[in-house]
Amino acid sequence: MTETVKYLLDETRIPRQWYNINADLPEPMAPVLHPGTHQPVTADDLLPLFPRGVIEQEMSSEREIDIPEPVRAAYRQWRPAPLYRARRLEQALGTPARIYYKYEGVSPTGSHKPNTAVAQAFYNHQEGVKRITTETGAGQWGSSLALAGAMFGLEIAVYMVKVSFQQKPYRRAFMESFGAECIASPSNTTQAGRAILADHPDSTGSLGIAISEAVEMAVQRDDTRYALGSVLNHVLLHQTVTGIEAREQMAMADDEPDVVIGCTGGGSNFAGLVFPFLGDQLRGGKTMEFIAVEPAACPTLTKGRFAYDFGDTAHLTPLTKMHTLGSGFVPSGFHAGGLRYHGMAPQISHLTDLGLIKPRAYEQLECFAAGLEFARAEGIIPAPEANHAVKAALDEARQCRETGESKAILFNLCGHGNFDMQAYTDYLAGKLHDQEYAESEAAMALSGLPSV
Ligand SMILES: Cc1ncc(COP(=O)(O)O)c(C=O)c1O
Repeated sequence: MTETVKYLLDETRIPRQWYNINADLPEPMAPVLHPGTHQPVTADDLLPLFPRGVIEQEMSSEREIDIPEPVRAAYRQWRPAPLYRARRLEQALGTPARIYYKYEGVSPTGSHKPNTAVAQAFYNHQEGVKRITTETGAGQWGSSLALAGAMFGLEIAVYMVKVSFQQKPYRRAFMESFGAECIASPSNTTQAGRAILADHPDSTGSLGIAISEAVEMAVQRDDTRYALGSVLNHVLLHQTVTGIEAREQMAMADDEPDVVIGCTGGGSNFAGLVFPFLGDQLRGGKTMEFIAVEPAACPTLTKGRFAYDFGDTAHLTPLTKMHTLGSGFVPSGFHAGGLRYHGMAPQISHLTDLGLIKPRAYEQLECFAAGLEFARAEGIIPAPEANHAVKAALDEARQCRETGESKAILFNLCGHGNFDMQAYTDYLAGKLHDQEYAESEAAMALSGLPSV
């Protein structure tokens, strides 16, 4: 038993409920505001965007929310996901730390994103929606919604950030293989896209712009709704299947984490792994360290302001209180496309503000170096986003080597990098550089924060 590498659960152990951290928050979150009136949004305000089932979850403070059977049936295709003990990596590092990782790359699209894609597709389908629009950064989310659309018989249109569209042609093919439409953003198909192109014809795009395009397309048609792959409460909620499984798998290993780590773009994979453990802590359980890792070139939690802001560039979305670099901030084209978002999940921002989550930022090159060190020991090439979590886990493990402490370190290996070979090719050829965080640009974007 002591040499076990994979902790596997039977399909019957797929969680029956998602965990909602709103039930356990020590202080309530700031309300979400209507972009026009600046009053708290109502469920009806959100109906043009989301199905009612999703809106109820967005506003819920029930601790446990049942996972519908058709969603659990879809999860069976890849869940429960394995938990690995990184024994070969521990040996290579010569660390007394015990390193574990939850591997979400076993999903059909190679990341954690289908955990919420199938749930969102289910609720839309159940309420008669025919078509969903969305944005995608790295392509992982767009691929996942495309897959979920195929599973539940929905049309999917994906606005893909232009720089990723160019960097990752296979992701587009992947989405199209499931029958989805994939459009490079900014595009000429929307007012928001045309306005950006008029001012910046060479714009490489951003998640904020792609969200504006997708939202604009969704509100124009009665049979169409919008889906977001991160940030919102319901998305984080759906991802908690990861942490709920991991908690059971850690118990199989007769262990408990001291440190839990995830990378943060909008925050969903981080929350998915962390919230079930953090919820236990908030209810009097073991105190752990929760480390949120972001790119130094888009340092939302470490350098952003905790303020009300729009989720998108064209200011079509409700206002949420979150860490933000300003909705007009366009991050540089570094390779972890899924981490290039100006904002952060309000729940994560709130918990960071309360001191319960410790944010940390790393440069691109040190993350790729960590990813390769991990790959050579463990045999899995991480997604560039996941490399940020890998880097933090390696740093923690090395620190244990110095102090002699034997901590249990758990991180979310939220996706594989098999579609990111161009990034690795560039890294290995010495063509990648650390991308500057444009302090002046962010200051300009922050100066445009709405006054609430
Ligand atoms: C593999 C992977 N990890 C992480 C992220 C970041 O999103 P989130 O912070 O919601 O997990 C993305 C987003 O596309 C992704 O594709």
